[in-house]
Amino acid sequence: MAEPCDLSVIIPTFNEEENIAAIIDAVDGVLSQNGIHDEILVVDDDSKDRTIPIVREIAGRQENVRLIVRREDHGLSQSVVEGFRSARSDILQVIDADFSHPPDLIPLFYEAIRGGADIAVGSRYTKGGDIEAWPLKRRIISLGATAFGRILFPEITDPVSGFFAVRRQVVDGAPLAPRGYKILMEVLGKGRWRTFVEIPFVFKDREEGASKLRAGTVIDYLRQCGGIVRFSVTRRTGSVWTEWNKVVRFGLVGLSGIFVNMGLLYALTEIAGLYYLVSAAIAIELSIVNNFVLNDVWTFRSIENLKFERKFSRFGSFQAVSMGGLAINMAVLYLLVDIAGAYYLVANLAGILIAFAWNYAINRHYTWVR
Ligand code: GDD
Repeated sequence: MAEPCDLSVIIPTFNEEENIAAIIDAVDGVLSQNGIHDEILVVDDDSKDRTIPIVREIAGRQENVRLIVRREDHGLSQSVVEGFRSARSDILQVIDADFSHPPDLIPLFYEAIRGGADIAVGSRYTKGGDIEAWPLKRRIISLGATAFGRILFPEITDPVSGFFAVRRQVVDGAPLAPRGYKILMEVLGKGRWRTFVEIPFVFKDREEGASKLRAGTVIDYLRQCGGIVRFSVTRRTGSVWTEWNKVVRFGLVGLSGIFVNMGLLYALTEIAGLYYLVSAAIAIELSIVNNFVLNDVWTFRSIENLKFERKFSRFGSFQAVSMGGLAINMAVLYLLVDIAGAYYLVANLAGILIAFAWNYAINRHYTWVR
């Protein structure tokens, strides 16, 4: 059985025979010096040079190093996503193989996530960050890509950075479908995160091997931005729409409850001859049962992995919330009838409406929640 580890470091590679042994050594060295128990996942896209045999040899003697060789769907971002899936720890670090990203900084990323950040972004464009030895053309392309990315994520100074760490929950279950180079954009656009920190770093152009960035990368990037915009619009409108959908259903169920409530109140008071407050209490309780059943099987049926797994516990919660609603309903009824002299059926309707608002808000945040 593999030992648990604190940090999974994902290194995507394609033809990195000059760098890979040295970067593994450097990453492992800095992490063990800092007492961080790491695993290193090299995710390779079927390199044609000696990258694969070199990593195989290291993995054979070093238990915390693993190699994943991909033969389909070639791509840097796709490889990182594959690394996320296979990683064993809850903190995931991504770093290039070519020493563009200084491995010495990894402990800062690790501490940032442990300190509560969901994402730690290595930034070239925040104070203290820089880029060394890039040709003008590359600088211009990068500035353009960054500026475009910042329209989507204005709070992040370097949303196209390839050096970042992320808490596993951010990406778990997120519909990441990246193409090309900008995996961080995909994580920011589709992951579930709230807090981030930026860690300045100086990007050093590779000394060994060549960049794999191609003209098609720009097209991939633009398509990816389009995908992120589409996703966030549907996420926003989708969730607003589904919420309204639930409010409307909850309202319709409430309406059915009003019929049950009013019908029983009338029947028990006028036909059975009960005192109107006693009739109201019975009518309200039976309408609570009616509403629970309909809400459970219809209004909130799309919510999976509910906090209360069993129907009975959900009913307990709904009943408790409804007791608050009942108190509100009764108080309004009493105040309007006995103090304001209103007709009891009208007063009851007002009580039901106020209790409805309370019931939806509290049940939505307590009973039917994941
Ligand atoms: N598995 C896999 N598949 N790895 C790849 C691929 C691929 O198709 N292409 C590149 N890599 C690996 C490289 O082996 C290296 O470890 C890392 O990804 C970066 O590759 P480079 O080709 O050197 O990237 P770059 O310097 O042009 O781009 C870097 O900077 C960009 C910001 O300007 C990367 O960090 C990008 O992620 C970053 O956006």
